[in-house]
Amino acid sequence: MSLQELERLYTEAKNALPEITEAAALENWENKFIGRKGAITLLVRSVGQLPKEDRAAFGQRANQIKSEMESAYAQRADLIRQRELAKSLEEGEIDVTLPGRPTPTGGIHPATQTLREIYAIWADMGFQVFRTREVEDDQTNFEMLNIPPHHPARDMWDTFHTTTPGVILRTHTSPGQIHAMRRFAPGPIRVILPGMCFRYEQISTRKEIQFNQVEGLAVGHNIRLSDLKGTITAFARRIFGEDRKVRFRGSYFPFTEPSMEVDVECMLCEGKGCSVCSGTGWLEIAGCGMVHPVVLRNGGYDPTVHSGFAFGMGPERITMLKHGINDIRYFWGNDLRFLEQF
Ligand code: DAH
Repeated sequence: MSLQELERLYTEAKNALPEITEAAALENWENKFIGRKGAITLLVRSVGQLPKEDRAAFGQRANQIKSEMESAYAQRADLIRQRELAKSLEEGEIDVTLPGRPTPTGGIHPATQTLREIYAIWADMGFQVFRTREVEDDQTNFEMLNIPPHHPARDMWDTFHTTTPGVILRTHTSPGQIHAMRRFAPGPIRVILPGMCFRYEQISTRKEIQFNQVEGLAVGHNIRLSDLKGTITAFARRIFGEDRKVRFRGSYFPFTEPSMEVDVECMLCEGKGCSVCSGTGWLEIAGCGMVHPVVLRNGGYDPTVHSGFAFGMGPERITMLKHGINDIRYFWGNDLRFLEQF
């Protein structure tokens, strides 16, 4: 321990300081020289071990160096802090002239949009949504609806069977009629039964193996064919436009008697005849009819007391007609170029 040593440490500390640019390195410097166990601090404390005559000079110089280094340290610390702040401000700076990054947002599927429109219209007419399962038994999907096992009308619905005998994917929403009647009998019913249906079809521009249907069912006293026609006409005008012509054609379904199909005036050619309506000027939008007495009885109603009407429509088909879409496969193709248009 000597003045020489003190001066050497002083020079070392003083030279090292301006090189330091980071807080961590500065802390090391502090520990090494002026911290509690730093070399300069230790020298200041060791004055007492020197011969008496050297103490005053050494002590004075040591204290001078220590306080000089302390204030140099404080200045350096300040500088580093300021630089780090400036740097972080610079890095976090927002360049308001940069173009924004696109944030992709999801949309509502066109079939869902139509479904929601359909729900709203029927809700206004007092029909509530009643949901039933996509997996059905043969009984409810067919037999309860007056379609016995070997009935030729079964050919109308090509069926997906599961590995459990008698358990199938529903081919239409009509079995929901049975579930709704059994739930509400003998009370009045006004429900729509929306949902996915499945058919073992050859996929084409007009046929898919999965699609939505919206079934409707009204049961009560004195419900007549004229109620059905008026209600369906009101619906068709709300969804396709106020002055759209609507017509009813006699048809056949096992679960309704009489049965009809509903056509609206073709919206592409305004009824003149085009390729979409095969030159007829009309487009089919639904099947409907008065609920067959056998079906009413299967649902728990007495057909001599109660009557009802039912209908079934396809939201994908309605969407296609509204937007002039010519291929049903777009609906489940997950092609964003199609979906983003809605
Ligand atoms: N379930 C029929 C189908 O899938 C559609 C249908 C027709 C439903 C007439 C009905 C109805 O409720 O009355 O083709």
